[in-house]
Amino acid sequence: MRKKIVAGNWKMNMELAEGLKFASELDAYFKEKPAAAGVVLCTPFIHLAGAADILKGGNVALGAQNCASEPSGAYTGEVSPAMIRSAGAAYVIIGHSERRTYYHEDNAILHRKTWLAIENGLSVIFCCGEVQHEREAGTHFDVVRTQLEEGLFSLPEDAFRKVVIAYEPVWAIGTGLTATPEQAQEMHLHIRTLVAGRYGRECADDMTILYGGSCKPSNAREIFSKPDVDGGLIGGASLKKEDFTAIVESI
Ligand code: PGA
Repeated sequence: MRKKIVAGNWKMNMELAEGLKFASELDAYFKEKPAAAGVVLCTPFIHLAGAADILKGGNVALGAQNCASEPSGAYTGEVSPAMIRSAGAAYVIIGHSERRTYYHEDNAILHRKTWLAIENGLSVIFCCGEVQHEREAGTHFDVVRTQLEEGLFSLPEDAFRKVVIAYEPVWAIGTGLTATPEQAQEMHLHIRTLVAGRYGRECADDMTILYGGSCKPSNAREIFSKPDVDGGLIGGASLKKEDFTAIVESI
Protein backbone atom coordinates (compact mmCIF):
# COMPACT_ATOMS: atom_id res chain seq x y z
CA MET A 1 0.00 0.00 0.00
CA ARG A 2 1.31 3.42 -0.93
CA LYS A 3 2.15 5.52 2.13
CA LYS A 4 1.71 9.30 2.34
CA ILE A 5 4.62 11.06 4.02
CA VAL A 6 5.50 14.63 4.89
CA ALA A 7 9.13 14.99 5.96
CA GLY A 8 10.74 18.12 7.36
CA ASN A 9 14.34 18.76 6.37
CA TRP A 10 15.77 21.11 8.97
CA LYS A 11 19.07 21.43 7.04
CA MET A 12 21.80 23.17 9.11
CA ASN A 13 19.46 25.04 11.41
CA MET A 14 18.82 25.15 15.15
CA GLU A 15 21.22 24.60 18.01
CA LEU A 16 20.67 21.61 20.27
CA ALA A 17 18.29 23.02 22.89
CA GLU A 18 16.22 24.88 20.30
CA GLY A 19 15.88 21.79 18.11
CA LEU A 20 14.86 19.53 20.99
CA LYS A 21 12.28 22.06 22.14
CA PHE A 22 10.86 22.19 18.63
CA ALA A 23 10.79 18.37 18.42
CA SER A 24 8.85 18.29 21.75
CA GLU A 25 6.32 20.78 20.45
CA LEU A 26 5.74 18.78 17.27
CA ASP A 27 5.57 15.53 19.22
CA ALA A 28 2.86 16.97 21.48
CA TYR A 29 0.97 18.45 18.53
CA PHE A 30 0.81 15.21 16.54
CA LYS A 31 -0.05 13.14 19.63
CA GLU A 32 -3.08 15.31 20.09
CA LYS A 33 -3.92 15.53 16.39
CA PRO A 34 -2.57 12.41 14.63
CA ALA A 35 -1.87 13.18 10.98
CA ALA A 36 -3.24 11.35 7.96
CA ALA A 37 0.33 11.14 6.63
CA GLY A 38 3.49 9.73 8.18
CA VAL A 39 5.46 12.64 9.64
CA VAL A 40 9.26 12.53 9.63
CA LEU A 41 11.71 15.06 11.07
CA CYS A 42 15.14 15.02 9.45
CA THR A 43 17.39 16.80 11.90
CA PRO A 44 21.09 17.53 12.08
CA PHE A 45 23.12 14.65 13.59
CA ILE A 46 23.51 16.33 16.96
CA HIS A 47 19.76 16.33 17.58
CA LEU A 48 19.13 12.69 16.72
CA ALA A 49 19.62 10.89 20.05
CA GLY A 50 17.79 13.52 22.09
CA ALA A 51 14.97 13.82 19.57
CA ALA A 52 14.60 10.01 19.47
CA ASP A 53 13.96 10.00 23.22
CA ILE A 54 11.37 12.74 22.84
CA LEU A 55 9.58 11.19 19.86
CA LYS A 56 9.55 7.60 21.20
CA GLY A 57 6.03 6.18 21.37
CA GLY A 58 4.58 9.15 19.48
CA ASN A 59 3.42 9.73 15.91
CA VAL A 60 6.53 11.37 14.48
CA ALA A 61 9.47 9.47 12.99
CA LEU A 62 13.06 10.63 12.89
CA GLY A 63 15.65 10.84 10.13
CA ALA A 64 19.14 12.11 9.38
CA GLN A 65 20.07 14.25 6.38
CA ASN A 66 23.15 12.38 5.16
CA CYS A 67 25.30 9.40 6.04
CA ALA A 68 28.75 8.00 5.33
CA SER A 69 29.40 5.76 2.35
CA GLU A 70 31.61 3.43 4.42
CA PRO A 71 30.49 1.26 7.33
CA SER A 72 33.10 2.29 9.94
CA GLY A 73 36.74 3.18 10.49
CA ALA A 74 39.14 6.00 9.77
CA TYR A 75 36.79 8.51 8.09
CA THR A 76 37.21 11.64 10.18
CA GLY A 77 34.04 13.64 10.52
CA GLU A 78 31.70 11.05 9.03
CA VAL A 79 28.65 9.40 10.63
CA SER A 80 27.74 5.88 9.58
CA PRO A 81 24.25 4.51 8.92
CA ALA A 82 24.70 2.09 11.87
CA MET A 83 25.40 5.06 14.16
CA ILE A 84 22.33 6.87 12.86
CA ARG A 85 20.21 3.79 13.46
CA SER A 86 21.68 3.37 16.95
CA ALA A 87 20.70 6.95 17.77
CA GLY A 88 17.06 6.04 17.12
CA ALA A 89 16.46 7.31 13.58
CA ALA A 90 14.56 5.30 11.00
CA TYR A 91 15.20 7.40 7.88
CA VAL A 92 18.06 9.13 6.12
CA ILE A 93 17.94 11.63 3.25
CA ILE A 94 20.42 10.72 0.52
CA GLY A 95 21.27 12.68 -2.60
CA HIS A 96 19.90 16.07 -1.63
CA SER A 97 20.90 18.62 -4.26
CA GLU A 98 22.88 20.55 -1.63
CA ARG A 99 24.99 17.41 -1.05
CA ARG A 100 25.35 16.85 -4.80
CA THR A 101 26.36 20.47 -5.44
CA TYR A 102 28.41 21.61 -2.42
CA TYR A 103 29.97 18.23 -1.50
CA HIS A 104 30.28 16.84 -5.01
CA GLU A 105 28.37 13.65 -4.29
CA ASP A 106 27.82 11.77 -7.51
CA ASN A 107 25.40 8.98 -8.36
CA ALA A 108 28.01 6.28 -7.65
CA ILE A 109 28.64 7.48 -4.11
CA LEU A 110 24.93 8.03 -3.51
CA HIS A 111 24.31 4.46 -4.56
CA ARG A 112 26.89 3.22 -2.03
CA LYS A 113 25.31 5.32 0.72
CA THR A 114 21.84 4.05 -0.16
CA TRP A 115 22.94 0.40 -0.06
CA LEU A 116 24.71 0.81 3.24
CA ALA A 117 21.82 2.71 4.82
CA ILE A 118 19.34 -0.01 3.84
CA GLU A 119 21.68 -2.80 4.98
CA ASN A 120 21.73 -1.06 8.35
CA GLY A 121 17.98 -0.94 8.70
CA LEU A 122 17.28 2.62 7.58
CA SER A 123 14.68 3.75 5.06
CA VAL A 124 16.09 6.14 2.48
CA ILE A 125 14.57 9.35 1.17
CA PHE A 126 16.43 9.55 -2.14
CA CYS A 127 16.38 12.97 -3.79
CA CYS A 128 16.50 13.65 -7.49
CA GLY A 129 15.81 16.69 -9.65
CA GLU A 130 17.10 18.88 -12.43
CA VAL A 131 18.74 22.30 -12.30
CA GLN A 132 17.24 25.28 -14.08
CA HIS A 133 19.25 25.12 -17.32
CA GLU A 134 18.41 21.43 -17.68
CA ARG A 135 14.71 22.24 -17.45
CA GLU A 136 15.11 25.10 -19.91
CA ALA A 137 16.95 22.76 -22.29
CA GLY A 138 14.15 20.21 -21.93
CA THR A 139 16.47 17.50 -20.58
CA HIS A 140 14.83 17.23 -17.13
CA PHE A 141 13.21 13.83 -17.72
CA ASP A 142 16.55 12.37 -18.87
CA VAL A 143 18.45 13.93 -15.96
CA VAL A 144 16.11 12.38 -13.41
CA ARG A 145 16.16 9.04 -15.23
CA THR A 146 19.97 8.95 -15.04
CA GLN A 147 19.94 9.87 -11.33
CA LEU A 148 17.56 7.02 -10.59
CA GLU A 149 19.23 4.47 -12.86
CA GLU A 150 22.69 5.15 -11.48
CA GLY A 151 21.70 5.86 -7.88
CA LEU A 152 18.99 3.30 -7.22
CA PHE A 153 18.12 0.85 -9.93
CA SER A 154 20.81 -1.72 -9.22
CA LEU A 155 19.18 -2.37 -5.83
CA PRO A 156 17.26 -5.63 -5.63
CA GLU A 157 13.52 -5.15 -5.19
CA ASP A 158 13.39 -5.90 -1.46
CA ALA A 159 15.99 -3.19 -0.80
CA PHE A 160 14.36 -0.77 -3.25
CA ARG A 161 11.10 -1.09 -1.32
CA LYS A 162 12.87 0.68 1.58
CA VAL A 163 13.28 3.79 -0.60
CA VAL A 164 11.07 6.86 -0.80
CA ILE A 165 11.88 9.05 -3.81
CA ALA A 166 11.77 12.83 -3.41
CA TYR A 167 11.54 14.86 -6.62
CA GLU A 168 13.06 18.25 -5.90
CA PRO A 169 13.60 20.51 -8.89
CA VAL A 170 16.75 22.35 -7.84
CA TRP A 171 15.46 25.66 -9.24
CA ALA A 172 12.59 25.48 -6.75
CA ILE A 173 14.60 24.76 -3.58
CA GLY A 174 14.69 27.72 -1.21
CA THR A 175 13.97 30.10 -4.09
CA GLY A 176 10.26 30.69 -3.59
CA LEU A 177 9.71 29.27 -7.09
CA THR A 178 7.54 26.17 -6.96
CA ALA A 179 6.91 23.66 -9.70
CA THR A 180 3.31 23.93 -10.79
CA PRO A 181 1.15 21.02 -9.66
CA GLU A 182 1.11 19.92 -13.31
CA GLN A 183 4.93 20.01 -13.57
CA ALA A 184 5.19 17.99 -10.35
CA GLN A 185 2.60 15.48 -11.54
CA GLU A 186 4.23 14.90 -14.92
CA MET A 187 7.64 14.26 -13.35
CA HIS A 188 6.17 12.03 -10.64
CA LEU A 189 4.37 10.02 -13.30
CA HIS A 190 7.64 9.77 -15.25
CA ILE A 191 9.40 8.49 -12.10
CA ARG A 192 6.65 5.96 -11.38
CA THR A 193 6.79 4.74 -14.97
CA LEU A 194 10.57 4.26 -14.70
CA VAL A 195 10.09 2.32 -11.44
CA ALA A 196 7.45 0.15 -13.12
CA GLY A 197 9.85 -0.56 -15.98
CA ARG A 198 12.54 -1.70 -13.57
CA TYR A 199 10.61 -3.29 -10.69
CA GLY A 200 7.12 -3.93 -12.06
CA ARG A 201 3.73 -2.27 -11.76
CA GLU A 202 2.93 -3.39 -8.24
CA CYS A 203 6.16 -2.02 -6.80
CA ALA A 204 5.64 1.26 -8.68
CA ASP A 205 2.09 1.57 -7.37
CA ASP A 206 3.34 1.02 -3.79
CA MET A 207 6.14 3.56 -4.14
CA THR A 208 5.94 6.83 -2.20
CA ILE A 209 7.12 9.81 -4.28
CA LEU A 210 7.44 13.16 -2.49
CA TYR A 211 7.62 16.64 -3.96
CA GLY A 212 10.07 19.17 -2.52
CA GLY A 213 10.91 22.76 -3.38
CA SER A 214 9.32 25.84 -1.76
CA CYS A 215 6.36 23.84 -0.52
CA LYS A 216 4.26 25.97 1.82
CA PRO A 217 0.79 26.00 3.34
CA SER A 218 -0.56 28.04 0.43
CA ASN A 219 0.51 25.61 -2.31
CA ALA A 220 0.74 22.21 -0.57
CA ARG A 221 -2.89 21.18 -0.92
CA GLU A 222 -2.95 21.62 -4.67
CA ILE A 223 0.38 19.86 -5.21
CA PHE A 224 -0.54 16.98 -2.89
CA SER A 225 -3.87 16.51 -4.65
CA LYS A 226 -2.10 15.21 -7.78
CA PRO A 227 -2.44 11.44 -8.15
CA ASP A 228 1.28 10.65 -8.25
CA VAL A 229 2.34 13.07 -5.49
CA ASP A 230 2.37 11.22 -2.17
CA GLY A 231 3.52 14.01 0.12
CA GLY A 232 6.41 16.40 0.49
CA LEU A 233 9.95 17.05 1.63
CA ILE A 234 9.80 20.43 3.30
CA GLY A 235 12.81 22.66 3.94
CA GLY A 236 12.27 26.27 5.04
CA ALA A 237 8.63 25.82 6.00
CA SER A 238 9.50 22.87 8.29
CA LEU A 239 11.18 25.28 10.70
CA LYS A 240 7.92 26.96 11.66
CA LYS A 241 5.40 24.93 13.63
CA GLU A 242 2.31 26.57 12.12
CA ASP A 243 3.57 26.18 8.57
CA PHE A 244 4.79 22.61 8.95
CA THR A 245 1.67 21.37 10.70
CA ALA A 246 -0.52 23.13 8.12
CA ILE A 247 1.39 21.42 5.30
CA VAL A 248 1.05 18.03 6.98
CA GLU A 249 -2.66 18.61 7.42
CA SER A 250 -3.17 19.57 3.80
CA ILE A 251 -2.59 15.91 2.83
P1 PGA B 1 12.63 24.31 0.59
O1 PGA B 1 13.66 23.06 0.62
O2 PGA B 1 11.30 23.75 1.05
O3 PGA B 1 13.21 25.28 1.55
O4 PGA B 1 12.60 24.80 -0.82
C1 PGA B 1 13.24 21.78 0.27
C2 PGA B 1 14.43 20.85 0.41
O5 PGA B 1 15.55 21.26 0.09
O6 PGA B 1 14.27 19.68 0.84
